[in-house]
Amino acid sequence: MKNIERRKADHIRVSLEENVVQTHNNWDDIKLVHCSLPEVDLDDIDTSIMLFRKRLSMPLIVTAITGGFKDAEKINRNLAEACADMKVGLGVGSQRAGLEEGDEASYTVLKEFDVPLRIGNVGAPQLIPQKRRKAFSVDQVKKAMEMVDADVMAIHLNYLQEAAQPGGDMRAEGVLDAIRDVAREMPSIVKETGAGISRETAIRLKGTGIIGMDISGVSGTSFASVEMHRAKQVGDVRCEAIGRLFSNWGVPAPVSVIEADVGLPIIASGGITNGLHIASSVVLGASCAGMARAILPAAMRSAEAVKELLTQIGDELKVAMFLTGSEDIAALASKDCVLTGETKEWIDQREG
Ligand SMILES: Cc1cc2nc3c(=O)[nH]c(=O)nc-3n(C[C@H](O)[C@H](O)[C@H](O)COP(=O)(O)O)c2cc1C
Repeated sequence: MKNIERRKADHIRVSLEENVVQTHNNWDDIKLVHCSLPEVDLDDIDTSIMLFRKRLSMPLIVTAITGGFKDAEKINRNLAEACADMKVGLGVGSQRAGLEEGDEASYTVLKEFDVPLRIGNVGAPQLIPQKRRKAFSVDQVKKAMEMVDADVMAIHLNYLQEAAQPGGDMRAEGVLDAIRDVAREMPSIVKETGAGISRETAIRLKGTGIIGMDISGVSGTSFASVEMHRAKQVGDVRCEAIGRLFSNWGVPAPVSVIEADVGLPIIASGGITNGLHIASSVVLGASCAGMARAILPAAMRSAEAVKELLTQIGDELKVAMFLTGSEDIAALASKDCVLTGETKEWIDQREG
């Protein structure tokens, strides 16, 4: 197995077999205010949204998970079939394997389905020269877009993961300019990978011309934990310790939704596991929510299993909208909430 292939396979295996979830789910700190008089019939509630000029049946994207190894094609096929049927957005995992090793089948599979919003994926560290590798050119990123017929390209920020990964890419100087170069040529968003985007970073990113941000904050998958398990396996004591120490590092996802509100659409991800979490993210100001790890076991099984899960999540969202008296997503977005626990502490201190 080639290096990238092994790493991608490890990420899936470790995410399924080990506990890689951050210790606190901050979405549970958000309490929506109950409305005893909804004055809207449950069946008349409209959960649909427009995002990046595409209509989705609910504010949900399955965010980047995988690509570039044998099982990835099956996972992406199951996800693509379900997302097309359910009118949910879908992102592929890092397309580095497709670009560097010509391993395209697990990505191009998306083109076989009518997915309403397709999102490509490249890593920000790959946009600048690293110690042993040249940078991807803007033309190569365009090729990645074409590979999945993407509507939007996601550039992921994953320096926490790189720092905890044996042999990770540690060069970061010049990334903001590189993002600007890509955003000038194609519709681009920036996404984190589980450590959240602070207000300061969001302001700098807005200046690059990106059209949105997936804040991917703390509450769900910890890539430091994933790398800790991988490091342990190969006896890399240094990376194992770093991964463990930083496993809860970052801005909690709901806090990041508020902080990153600089006038661009926000995708709220990191620890989203149910319809109530999605509703909470909309109340906090997100345009859409995103989920990865929670959908992975179903994606390993079948498109049918993914559809069942998405149907359940859609039903839960509808109930949350019913119980807050929200006939559509715009109405839900105008509702109030109460912040508790760690999330309230973060917001009080960051705003104070
Ligand atoms: C197995 C796995 C692989 C992932 N690979 C990528 C990737 O290649 N590119 C990327 O931008 N994010 C990747 N992510 C991060 C997710 O898109 C998401 O931002 C993060 O996992 C937080 O969401 P969650 O708590 O719902 O998992 C991956 C997540 C998982 C679980």
